[in-house]
Amino acid sequence: KHRIDIATPLLDWYDRHRRDLPWRARPGEVPDPYRVWLSEVMLQQTTVATVRPRFTEWTRRWPTFADLAAADEAQVMAAWAGLGYYARARNLLAAARVIAGDHGGALPDSEAALRALPGFGDYTAAAVAAIAFGRRAVVVDANVERVVARLFAIAAPLPGGRKAIRAAAETITPDERAGDFAQAMMDLGSAVCSPRKPRCLLCPLHHACAAQATGTPEAFPVKKPK
Ligand code: ADE
Repeated sequence: KHRIDIATPLLDWYDRHRRDLPWRARPGEVPDPYRVWLSEVMLQQTTVATVRPRFTEWTRRWPTFADLAAADEAQVMAAWAGLGYYARARNLLAAARVIAGDHGGALPDSEAALRALPGFGDYTAAAVAAIAFGRRAVVVDANVERVVARLFAIAAPLPGGRKAIRAAAETITPDERAGDFAQAMMDLGSAVCSPRKPRCLLCPLHHACAAQATGTPEAFPVKKPK
């Protein structure tokens, strides 16, 4: 059976609309795993607008894993002020010390090895493997969850529906340009496939979107009534 290719129109859209963010490699540049990791940790629970200046200050002060590993815990915690969820900052420092000490200053490049580091959950390991190292990984944050739930009109309500969403995300993840694909899904979810008023007329995937075809794309993802 012919499967609709999602990655090709999405990557074409990304090439035209990608946001220039301080942690993103520009086309032709090699991503810096330290910056990718730091940004993904900062962006958990914190918006891009808030993270942007904080990321720039942080990377000026501690530009590499080794610089961060040598930092004082109190200074790191103070530099995190206002970003919330302080366990993330403590884990950042702990991971930087493991990386500088046991991994020769470089992140391992597989999802499984990343998963063993402090603070690396499923999301962070997949995002870093894909974005920093180009490894095929299924990267699902809240934006991606919404895009996938709509593309496939997944009817199973959250939170149980997450299994179906992840399985569907797996089927559209390409082998090539894994990091661009992940970030394109995030950008599409935030700029086009928004929660309340999706801009389907601007969407490069509307031809393939089952929720759009129902006429009420905003009904997805379905949530369990409280
Ligand atoms: N949210 C989490 N990670 C992101 C990324 N790499 N780009 C844009 N938004 C994000």
